[in-house]
Amino acid sequence: MKTLIKNGRIVTAVDDYRADILIEDERVSVIGAKLEMEADNVIDASGKLVIPGGIDPHTHMELPFGGTEASDDFLTGTRAAAHGGTTTIIDFAVQYKGESLIQGIDNWHKKAEGKTAIDYGFHLITTELEDNQIEELHTAMDEGISSFKMFMAYPGVFLVDDATIFRAMSAAGERGGLICMHAENGIVINEIIKHALAKGHTAPKYHALTRPTLAEAEGVHRAIAIAEMAESPVYIVHLSCADALNQVRQARDRGIPAFAETCPQYLFLSIDDYGDDFEGAKYVMTPPLREKSNQAELWKGLKTDDLQIISTDHCPFCMKEQKELGRNDFSKIPNGAPGVENRVPLIYNGGVVENRISLNRFVELTSTAAAKMFGLFPKKGTIAVGSDADIVIFDPEKEQTLGLKTSHMNVDYNTYEGKKIKGVVETVLSRGKVVIQNGEYKGKPGDGQFLKRGTCVSM
Ligand code: URP
Ligand code: ZN
Ligand code: ZN
Repeated sequence: MKTLIKNGRIVTAVDDYRADILIEDERVSVIGAKLEMEADNVIDASGKLVIPGGIDPHTHMELPFGGTEASDDFLTGTRAAAHGGTTTIIDFAVQYKGESLIQGIDNWHKKAEGKTAIDYGFHLITTELEDNQIEELHTAMDEGISSFKMFMAYPGVFLVDDATIFRAMSAAGERGGLICMHAENGIVINEIIKHALAKGHTAPKYHALTRPTLAEAEGVHRAIAIAEMAESPVYIVHLSCADALNQVRQARDRGIPAFAETCPQYLFLSIDDYGDDFEGAKYVMTPPLREKSNQAELWKGLKTDDLQIISTDHCPFCMKEQKELGRNDFSKIPNGAPGVENRVPLIYNGGVVENRISLNRFVELTSTAAAKMFGLFPKKGTIAVGSDADIVIFDPEKEQTLGLKTSHMNVDYNTYEGKKIKGVVETVLSRGKVVIQNGEYKGKPGDGQFLKRGTCVSM
């Protein structure tokens, strides 16, 4: 099968030029001006951007959490991702207490196998790691799971102590692996929540008011300090505020390999979105939405490379029957929000159209940097001869209104309802196969393949 993409403007993290692309056997085989080869499928990309497929390194498909389960499974979630120009996700498998690391990974393989629309990899949420389990962590790395998420939050569920974090960082770091840290002081936060509930503060907005930015900054500071003692890198997930970013910036200025991602919700939404009633439950995610003033600081961090990646932390729960679990107590609202479908167009609009970042940086933040950080580059994250033909044909001029009606995520609301943006994903190729054509899904469950990842090439 040969596909020829003609007349497009190819934009990668470093290049911006006009050329045609020939795809053979799932990969880019030739890039050049005015290619005249025979092809089974010719796509005219005149007036369009031709960019590497997005990589979202932070999703939680069908994650059991907060007494329920994230409402997108690997089928609906990856299909929605494809609609939004994302061709690779890295989802978080979970090793629950009492399970081996490999059991956790096997469980996630069972959830995903045969269902996904796009390629996928796993990180592993590690909730226990004794000395006798270090070997298993190395086995997981041999199986292509080269990053491990640990939590300083959610006591009694996912939280691990500092000794476990140090052990994991030492063991992973030794082999080039990476610890992804949910950095929030969950022990202190739980005390603050107790006091709030005792005062009768039960509305969703108290989710934000009980998780101060200082609790996140303290977690980031501690995570980086432990990583420094373990002589390993660290990657802070879903960084939400200036206080936390300052910790990363100070470490990086000292030459420490500290990395961080932020998410669209922290760039476009704010604490004001909670309002006073239960509608605010739509935005109950962790860390919570922050004061608007943090947004400019995060954009600055993205520009200066103190933040390297934009992921989504896609973890949707419906308002009906799921978020409702916390109608009388905000601490019982399942934490998480949808977003996998909206990331690429949102960042194009908010970043490029609104003049905050360059077109190259947009590609780097939504695709290339994640491929490098998580051991997928140059197979993924760029358009180059030999790379997988994961390609998005993006209309930079067309406008769209985000909302539930046009969304493909399996959830009953959209956090960006009514937001008008410029830039539309038109056609998406996943390893050379057209999975989205003019906004219509053309793939089938199981098109996606599991990605055995290597280690970071960013350091
Ligand atoms: O609220 C969130 N972020 N839910 C997903 C789990 C996590 O902490 O990433
Ligand atoms: Zn987290
Ligand atoms: Zn998450």
